[in-house]
Amino acid sequence: MCGIVGYLGKKEAYPILIKGLKRLEYRGYDSAGVALINDDKALNVYKAKGKVADLEHVCADKNLTGTIGIAHTRWATHGEPSTKNAHPHYSESKNLAIVHNGIIENYADIKKNLSAKGVHFVSDTDTEVLVQLIEYIQVNKNLDLLTSVEVALHQVIGAYAIALVDKRNPDQLIAVRKQSPLVIGIGEDEFFLGSDASTFIDHTDQVVYLEDGNIAVMTRGEELKVFDIENEKLNPEVKTVDINLGQIEKGGYPHFMLKEIFEQPECLRNSMRGRVVNIEGETGVVLNAIEAHKEEILNARRMIIVACGTSWHAALIGKQMIETYCRIPVVVEYASEFRYGNPVVGKGDVVIAISQSGETADTLAAVQLAKQKGAFIYGICNAVGSSIPRATDTGTYIHVGPEIGVASTKAFTGQVTVLTLMGLAIGKAKGTIKEAEYEAIAKELWNIPEKMKEVLKLNDKIEDLSRIFTYARNFLYLGRGFSYPVALEGALKLKEISYIHAEGYPAAEMKHGPIALIDSDMPCVVIATHNDMYEKILSNIQEIKARQGKVIALVSKGDETISKIADEVIELPETLECLEPLLATIPLQLLAYHVAVCKGKNVDQPRNLAKSVTVE
Ligand code: AGP
Repeated sequence: MCGIVGYLGKKEAYPILIKGLKRLEYRGYDSAGVALINDDKALNVYKAKGKVADLEHVCADKNLTGTIGIAHTRWATHGEPSTKNAHPHYSESKNLAIVHNGIIENYADIKKNLSAKGVHFVSDTDTEVLVQLIEYIQVNKNLDLLTSVEVALHQVIGAYAIALVDKRNPDQLIAVRKQSPLVIGIGEDEFFLGSDASTFIDHTDQVVYLEDGNIAVMTRGEELKVFDIENEKLNPEVKTVDINLGQIEKGGYPHFMLKEIFEQPECLRNSMRGRVVNIEGETGVVLNAIEAHKEEILNARRMIIVACGTSWHAALIGKQMIETYCRIPVVVEYASEFRYGNPVVGKGDVVIAISQSGETADTLAAVQLAKQKGAFIYGICNAVGSSIPRATDTGTYIHVGPEIGVASTKAFTGQVTVLTLMGLAIGKAKGTIKEAEYEAIAKELWNIPEKMKEVLKLNDKIEDLSRIFTYARNFLYLGRGFSYPVALEGALKLKEISYIHAEGYPAAEMKHGPIALIDSDMPCVVIATHNDMYEKILSNIQEIKARQGKVIALVSKGDETISKIADEVIELPETLECLEPLLATIPLQLLAYHVAVCKGKNVDQPRNLAKSVTVE
């Protein structure tokens, strides 16, 4: 969603803030702004609708001096995307400026009260209400800024990360976190602030992750102070963050998405490192989280997987893996539905939360609800130290590195890998998987990165193919068994970045409705690899061809039957059926990517989407 950056130190703040904003653009990008306090104690706020580059343009002829500042990229929630609604927002006196990520739920009531008392508002945002409230308290109760913030937050309902400066005190930066991520970087006589550590990683790797309800006070020449909302002083833990700057740059690829697709073999190696092991000549799986919580996990009466979007598709594969190899019933829920569905969940249930960002508001809320009801919570996340892993009882990081492209790619295969490891580790411990099958899957999983490299060699072919279908208005994606979630994921990728309508279906469901859509203008992507479902999928393809549909078939290398009837064929290396999603997903990611590029779309930052959805 929105992104926050802050700086207080000896250097000029503007270049640091702009660079940080650029790293956060993936979170939201309808407008951006910066506030700087200069040596004359002037608080200058500059804003622009559009991208950070538009903000730079606006700033080009402005006074950009100052060693303290805050900045923001916005993804609108309250009020249309515009310069007026962009952050930072001044208080009425223009003494304070604030940036905010999240939602103030009771902003309308607060605004009404303040308006009745004569406060004037210039924007439509909930954020301006917050800064006006803080100032109102500061002035009318004659309190210092920190206390005013604390008093204001007692009146506010919602989720927020905020950063605040006061021009009368150019040596202090205040930041608060509640259900929205915020990290402080600690340098030598300087502080950095970011929605994530990538914003300042070239300056310091020493960080403090703020916890919910923490208020951080950064003062020039002093140590970081952190308080809770009752003004109790806390002892923040300084951690060393492990992000490599090269990892968050494009590394020669035209887009982050393409780079991330190509990184998958290496990412999967990292996901498996230390987890797929050789024990006395035999390949096996070790997952520390499962070792440490055998009782809760092996005795689970049921597992419920909560997730959104791509992570939800990974969950569907996880369900098949766990039910097949662990014989534990698994339910997959959209986190957004679960949290409001009065779910029957409690002690004895294991709730698995899957989230790349670890910050998805719906998934976090589902976790909190399940926890309240007594379930044991297992997280599968990518962003280390993010909110969901911190709210769970245990979990496994997927370790695929920062994913910047809004369309999730390497996180999906990382999630499927970890779910496979879980299925194997739990199945082995419960004795529900045959020894030979356990070893065969573990061994083959270790080989998958090499097979992925083979699939990636199809990039040029898929690029050519994409040109044929660029102007299609609809796509159908079909698969069965383990490939059905892959079909859903392929359709989602195409929708997200090329804006072509696409639907994923279990192939056998076609005859119950979608078949009516098929004509010569309907490309159908069918995952038809050589497994138990092959004959069935073959008849589905024949049904499509009989109605003049165009078939792009993903087949196993050497397939002769489907290759003869499909219009286009993509050959995949053979693998075990349960691991096919890890290979079949890649051509679908590449197809979506190339179609979007052909259509001239903004692949890494598709319209209306944000990387991390931290509001409902
Ligand atoms: C994936 O391409 C999407 N952008 C989106 O569906 C995403 O997977 C979803 O918002 C969940 O995000 P999370 O994994 O960070 O929780």
